[in-house]
Amino acid sequence: MAHYMRSERLYHVMLPQQFEEALMERLFDTADLIKEITRKSNGSGFLKSVLQHKKAMLYFTQPSTRTFLSFLGACQLVGMDTAEVRDPSLSSEYKGESQEDGVRVFSSYFDCIVMRDPKPGFCEYMAYLLDTTGRSVPILNGGSGKDQHPTQALLDLYTMHRSFLSRGGIRKKRYAFVGDLLRGRAVRSVVFLLSQYQDLEFHFVAPDAFQIAPDLEDHLKTLGISHHLSEDLESVLPEMDCVYMTRLQDEYDLSGESQLVDYSRYSLDLGKVKNMKPESIILHPLPRRDEIHPEVDADPRAMYWRQLRNGMYLRAALLLHVFGAAHRLQEY
Ligand code: CP
Repeated sequence: MAHYMRSERLYHVMLPQQFEEALMERLFDTADLIKEITRKSNGSGFLKSVLQHKKAMLYFTQPSTRTFLSFLGACQLVGMDTAEVRDPSLSSEYKGESQEDGVRVFSSYFDCIVMRDPKPGFCEYMAYLLDTTGRSVPILNGGSGKDQHPTQALLDLYTMHRSFLSRGGIRKKRYAFVGDLLRGRAVRSVVFLLSQYQDLEFHFVAPDAFQIAPDLEDHLKTLGISHHLSEDLESVLPEMDCVYMTRLQDEYDLSGESQLVDYSRYSLDLGKVKNMKPESIILHPLPRRDEIHPEVDADPRAMYWRQLRNGMYLRAALLLHVFGAAHRLQEY
C-alpha cells in the first residue's frame, strides 16, 4: 500500500484495501460538497477552476458506460481536459506497439491515467512500470478483469453511507450480495472495503458454481466477520438492510458454464421486493440484464440510479484528493 502513496496521499488508486475509514469519510464529505457547489450560482465555474491545469487520459480497453462516462463527467466538473483511447485498433497498438509503450506515451502527455483492462493486475503492473521507468503519473484503476474495481466499491459505500445516514451509518447492518459472486469484481471490491467496518453481517446468495472466491471467504474468516453462503434469495430478503444485485458475468465463461445455472432464481421483481424491509436499499453496479425487473425501479428502495449518479461526484472527489486539491473547495 505504501508504494501507492505520495506525501501521505493516495497516488495510484489500485485496490479497495487502500481506503481506510477516515479517508473514505473525507472523500464522502468532499463528494457531498462538490454536489452542493454544482447547485449554486457560479458553482460550476468555480469547480472548473480547481484542476484546470491538469489533464486525464481515459484508457478503456474493456467495454464501459458508467465508469468511463462518470470519470469523464468528474474530470469536466473539476476542469480537467481529457482524451481517450477505447478502441486499441485506432491507436498504434494496431501497428504492433505494446500496451507498455502506449501507456508510457500517455504518461508523457497527461497528468493521470484512468485505466480499465480485462487483465487482472494489469493496472498494478503498469503503475510499477511507470514508477521504475521514468515519468510516473497516477494510475486510477477503473476495473481490472475479474480482479478489482476500487472506485465502484467507493461509490457503493458512498451510496450506503448516504442511504443509512439517519440509521446509524454503514455499521450494524445485514448485507446480501446476489448473483455471480465468483467473477464479479464489483462484489469482490465492495466486500473488501466493507470488511473494515465492525458489526456487519454478510449473506452471499449465488449458484454454487459462482459463490465467492475462497480467498475472499478466508479474508472474512480471518477478520471474524459473520457471513453465510446460500442459494435461496427469497429466504434471505426479509432480513436484509442492503441487497446488492449483480448480473451473470458470462464474458468470462471458459466452456459455457453460465448455461448450466438457472439465473432467474437470483432476480428481483416487485413480488420479492414486497418482502423486504421498508427501509432497506437495493443496489446494483449495473449494467443489468433481467436480474432486476424494471418495475422495481420506481420502488423507493431502488437506489441503483442514484448510485451511478453518486459515482461521478465521488470520482471527482477522488481526483481532487489525488492532486491534493480538495482543500480548495473551502474557498467557495
Ligand atoms: N458498474 C460499471 O463498472 O459499469 P460500466 O461497466 O458500464 O462502467
